[in-house]
Amino acid sequence: MPPAILETARLILRPFVLDDAANLYLLNSDPEVLRYTGDQPPASIEAARRGLLERPLADYRLHGFGRSACVLKATGQFIGFAGLKYVPELCEVDLGYRLSREFWGQGLATEAARASVAHGFNELGLQRIIGLVEPLHVASVRILQKCGMEYERTVDYRGEPVAQYVVSRGTSRFATMPAAK
Ligand SMILES: CC(C)(COP(=O)(O)OP(=O)(O)OC[C@H]1O[C@@H](n2cnc3c(N)ncnc32)[C@H](O)[C@@H]1OP(=O)(O)O)[C@@H](O)C(=O)NCCC(=O)NCCS
Repeated sequence: MPPAILETARLILRPFVLDDAANLYLLNSDPEVLRYTGDQPPASIEAARRGLLERPLADYRLHGFGRSACVLKATGQFIGFAGLKYVPELCEVDLGYRLSREFWGQGLATEAARASVAHGFNELGLQRIIGLVEPLHVASVRILQKCGMEYERTVDYRGEPVAQYVVSRGTSRFATMPAAK
């Protein structure tokens, strides 16, 4: 099944397509956007295209879900990405979000994050969702908390200690269906 398209009050979260390479290149060329992510800027639009093939598009094929492109409903503008991703190193599904700087501070990442969590529990049937965050990244910690997540432990991820937050289906106010037996 193709990955879902999610709609929030202000956003459409849709699967990435290869034509998003230029959008992703621009997003990831801002050092402030990459500051807490551990990622390097792509060398070119072609490198961004390869990144799309190796990550979200491969995730869609393997798992049926992955990070989604975030588009402003009002204008159709690409503003970043958000969504769930299976992390094989941890055997967990992780919530992530990344927006262009001009769209920060409007509650958009929280809106996308909450819709992704609800989708994970209600449509994908997940039992738990984690968020990996550098503890000093206050805005990101806040978003995880606003998705109902709590600190669980510190894990080694890509060679760095990061805080793992978690929300479980049974305790999430975004899960609307009864827990699977
Ligand atoms: C992190 C990021 C997604 C936040 O996006 P955003 O749309 O501005 O976030 P929101 O407006 O939904 O919410 C941010 C929350 O953090 C709070 N916040 C933001 N900066 C803060 C700061 N420096 N100190 C304390 N709180 C802060 C906001 O007040 C808001 O909480 P509130 O609604 O309770 O007031 C955005 O800055 C980004 O894309 N950064 C680059 C990529 C990144 O770091 N991704 C996360 C990797 S773990």
